[in-house]
Amino acid sequence: MTGDGPAGTSRIGVVGCGKISEVYLRTMVETPGLEVTAVADLDPARAREAAGLCPGCRAEPVEDLLVAADVDIVVNLTVPAAHAEVSAAALRAGKHVYTEKPLALDAATGREVMALAASRSLRVGAAPDTVAGTGTQTARAIIDRGGIGTPVAATAFMASHGPESWHPRPHFYYQPGGGPLLDMGPYYLSALVHLLGPITRVTGVARRGASEREVGSGPDTGTRVPVEIDTHVAGLLEHDSGALTTLVTSFEAWASRLPRIEVYGTEGSLSAPDPNRFDGTVEIFTPASPEWTVVPATAGFVGAARGVGVADLARSLTAPAEPVASGELGQHVLEVMDGLLRSAHTGTGVDIPPISGRPPAVALLPAAAAAGHHGEPSGARSTGDLG
Ligand SMILES: NC(=O)c1ccc[n+]([C@@H]2O[C@H](COP(=O)([O-])OP(=O)(O)OC[C@H]3O[C@@H](n4cnc5c(N)ncnc54)[C@H](O)[C@@H]3O)[C@@H](O)[C@H]2O)c1
Repeated sequence: MTGDGPAGTSRIGVVGCGKISEVYLRTMVETPGLEVTAVADLDPARAREAAGLCPGCRAEPVEDLLVAADVDIVVNLTVPAAHAEVSAAALRAGKHVYTEKPLALDAATGREVMALAASRSLRVGAAPDTVAGTGTQTARAIIDRGGIGTPVAATAFMASHGPESWHPRPHFYYQPGGGPLLDMGPYYLSALVHLLGPITRVTGVARRGASEREVGSGPDTGTRVPVEIDTHVAGLLEHDSGALTTLVTSFEAWASRLPRIEVYGTEGSLSAPDPNRFDGTVEIFTPASPEWTVVPATAGFVGAARGVGVADLARSLTAPAEPVASGELGQHVLEVMDGLLRSAHTGTGVDIPPISGRPPAVALLPAAAAAGHHGEPSGARSTGDLG
């Protein structure tokens, strides 16, 4: 099944209408080739509110959406603990799936989801799609044209104090499937795989600070959230290419001046922007021009926002190309995160199952091209301080 609706459109059903659903819905409503037909949430009021953002779509119970004849792709924006269950139910109903990160709570469950999709010849796309933007893709293009010689090593740092100050329901961030690694790691690890290729082996250390966090916004302000996950995870990643990455993800940093991603090559250094955003400043330093120089965008979707990965998945249903934010990459990233946490708790390195190679690079294109429609750029949109 291709999942194509009338006139080549892909019909979208969204499950999970919380905080991040608004930006997805806006993107998908504006993208030629996508039509949001239905939305669902365990909380019907949230589903009704979301339906108000997409003209012509209906709010309905989750079980009805999953089997609806006018849904080709289920976009799974539920909390991490529900990702695998909702994705599997959608696949069993014959729908392609685009899921928020992480793909599942652990690698073994993720493998089951991917095997189910393969057994039904259905596609899975997985967030983050930010790495398809001009920031990571321009950095990748510099590496691919030999701009810093052979990449030898990289550093990747995500240091914050967690999302409870701004997210009204921060509980899932402190439960299995959350934490700095499973919540924010997918941005950094997906970017690192785009930049340096697949990861073959990991070694990790981890710990947690306070046993509770305080909700800082919304109706639950002032209530306490139990911390069930490690809040500081550091690791070493060995890439198939030979490059070595040092990774730190932390919800323990009240403030930090660490860079996001740097790559050190035999002929120069590269500074890549925040992989939680689509664009950002890319800089290069070489001995021939020994000062940091900004490199203009040369690759990636221009003016993209969350949801561009859904459009790219829809395009891939009728084209031979893999989606940029593919399930294979999402599962690889999950294997790496699961491996880092296992390593942290056993004290030994963990081998990561091989994948077919690097995800496809994205040429400099307007975001609308993700769905196969080469329109004008829709203009840069702020993605806010999202996680
Ligand atoms: N909030 C952000 O800034 C942000 C940014 C990027 C990615 N994400 C990711 O998006 C996902 C959702 O995050 P959020 O911030 O929107 O969370 P949220 O808590 O605001 O919303 C999640 C919604 O999913 C619904 N839900 C939970 N289980 C369900 C199920 N089984 N069936 C149907 N609905 C179900 C909840 O009722 C809720 O409305 C997470 O995986 C998160 O990591 C969030």
